[in-house]
Amino acid sequence: MSARAAGREEEPAGGSFDDGSWEATEDAPHTVTSPESMPPERTAEAALRPRRLEEFVGQQVVRDQLSLVLDAAAARGRAPEHMLLSGPPGLGKTTLAMIIAAELSAPLRITSGPAIQHAGDLAAILSSLDEGEVLFIDEIHRLARPAEEMLYIAMEDFRVDVVVGKGVGATSIPLDLPPFTVVGATTRAGLLPAPLRDRFGFIGHLDFYGAEELREVVRRSAVRLEVELEDRAAIEIASRSRGTPRIANRLLRRVRDWAQVRGSGALDLGAAKEALRVYEVDDRGLDRLDRAVLSALCGRFAGGPVGLSTLAVAVGEETETVETMIEPYLVREGFLLRTPRGRAAAPAAWEHLGLEPPAGAEGTPPMLGRF
Ligand SMILES: Nc1ncnc2c1ncn2[C@@H]1O[C@H](COP(=O)(O)OP(=O)(O)O)[C@@H](O)[C@H]1O
Ligand SMILES: [Mg+2]
Repeated sequence: MSARAAGREEEPAGGSFDDGSWEATEDAPHTVTSPESMPPERTAEAALRPRRLEEFVGQQVVRDQLSLVLDAAAARGRAPEHMLLSGPPGLGKTTLAMIIAAELSAPLRITSGPAIQHAGDLAAILSSLDEGEVLFIDEIHRLARPAEEMLYIAMEDFRVDVVVGKGVGATSIPLDLPPFTVVGATTRAGLLPAPLRDRFGFIGHLDFYGAEELREVVRRSAVRLEVELEDRAAIEIASRSRGTPRIANRLLRRVRDWAQVRGSGALDLGAAKEALRVYEVDDRGLDRLDRAVLSALCGRFAGGPVGLSTLAVAVGEETETVETMIEPYLVREGFLLRTPRGRAAAPAAWEHLGLEPPAGAEGTPPMLGRF
């Protein structure tokens, strides 16, 4: 078996799909507003991925910086520096990695932190890289320590020590590598050890998208799906997509389903509203689970503060799920507050649920409630 095949085989089952992209397939609860991709929708997603930098909507800062790095590398005729892309799920990290390879006209190798169990797996991949190849390592913060150390050396010195043989007879042979570019992606930049972070010449932070940008994303996706999308429907979908293109595209597909099966086939505002009602996505982009969290917080815990794990148990979810997938959006939209004593409901949460906040509730801003 070639080293290349060996490297590929280590990808987790179901993790690698036809366009070569890779996504985490964890046991996260998949709802229509989950920022993670669900395995069956991979092909649909791949069809909607922009292929070139100029088709990539929004993220102006990262796009400008990236195009400079790529143009400079092209002008010098050399592989560009290693690049790290960080940001929440569904904002375009994998898409950008593919675009980088496409813009460089370079081959792309795809793996992920969890797929590399042993340093040997990484050695197999590294030693089979072609000159100028782009090595995309998704979830790079989840690399095991020995692989991480091997990667530092490879990134800096373009060298890898290949271990030949087993046990006492094993010897390590240093192998020079051709110039290549690592593109790392992480949802948790803070978890990346400094020595690894320092080896990236470029770090791009992706941020949530604005409503205008998401409208453009769904507009383009509708063209690719060959459906006609009324502008008011595009705006409606955009405003309920939690700043996340993956969710916007998914909601668009659900609206298309509704229009084709229950509606007149037209993707108009009525179809958008009806479809989103069926999928229980409300006008602020909150789904059933989000509302369950807020209801528990306001009802059962009288607005809090309450510990994260207690709150998670109350809605029957893992603490990590609530922390990484539900809470960030609720905090960003001003529904939920992180306080030193736990999670508390903000006034907007009571309002959204149509409830009266109790006098002196924790979430009441100090100016109104304390002075
Ligand atoms: N800037 C963008 N413009 C258009 N579509 C985008 C953009 N960012 C993401 N998408 C779409 O959203 C989906 C998820 O993007 P992906 O790159 O897989 O996110 P991540 O790797 O950050 O989780 C893709 O199918 C892609 O079509
Ligand atoms: Mg990804």
